Amino acid sequence: MIIHRPDNISYQEAAASPIAGITAWKALVGLGNVKKGDKVLIHAGAGGVGHMAIQLAKHLDATVIATSSAKNRDFVLSLGADQHIDYTAEKFYELVKDVDFVLDPVGGETRQRSLDVVRKNGLIVSIVPPNFEAAQEKARKKGVNLSLLLVKGSKEEMEAVAALLLKGVFKVFISGVYPFSKMADAHLQIESKRTVGKIVVAL
Ligand SMILES: NC(=O)c1ccc[n+]([C@@H]2O[C@H](COP(=O)([O-])OP(=O)(O)OC[C@H]3O[C@@H](n4cnc5c(N)ncnc54)[C@H](OP(=O)(O)O)[C@@H]3O)[C@@H](O)[C@H]2O)c1
Repeated sequence: MIIHRPDNISYQEAAASPIAGITAWKALVGLGNVKKGDKVLIHAGAGGVGHMAIQLAKHLDATVIATSSAKNRDFVLSLGADQHIDYTAEKFYELVKDVDFVLDPVGGETRQRSLDVVRKNGLIVSIVPPNFEAAQEKARKKGVNLSLLLVKGSKEEMEAVAALLLKGVFKVFISGVYPFSKMADAHLQIESKRTVGKIVVAL
């Protein structure tokens, strides 16, 4: 599926934006209905989806708490986060509570512990399927809503993201550009789970 590239972004930025942008948009707007004054926790705020989600949550006038390691603290704050938590040194579940909405691009213990910081009837949108059932059980007990979002990407969704790029709400950060011959290195980078923003493979 193809849509017009917004005039204000490069081809590389256009290539890097769709999946991360759609995922953030569907999570926060489509499922989360995040609004002014909401307390929002974005895990992996330095990652592909997370860095877009922080920008969108701020645009929606939410109060944004974001996690990353210390080396990405300034990056996360530069995106508009109000509070940064270094997940390698601090326990987010001891620092935040009564959260309205959590974006979970990490899963595992991060998702399980997130269930302890969400207010009753609040929402966690997770984008990682493994072990989702275990989290569902805890969510039921806690009275917390938990959704698994799997994005396919439609023309309408891409157009929504393009509009946000055009308005400057979304600015995709590209941390590396790989030549086509280094495709394997690009995959290894993604698998490292340490990628900041997005990477692009260029012909
Ligand atoms: N369901 C869907 O439709 C959908 C869509 C897009 C992506 N995904 C999935 O979502 C996951 C995230 O993808 P992504 O592209 O956003 O990012 P990613 O490339 O996996 O994220 C990398 C970032 O995650 C941070 N990070 C790693 N472990 C963390 C932890 N325990 N707590 C907080 N931050 C942590 C790292 O920050 P530091 O270097 O600072 O540690 C790094 O900046 C992947 O598994 C991907 O396959 C699913």
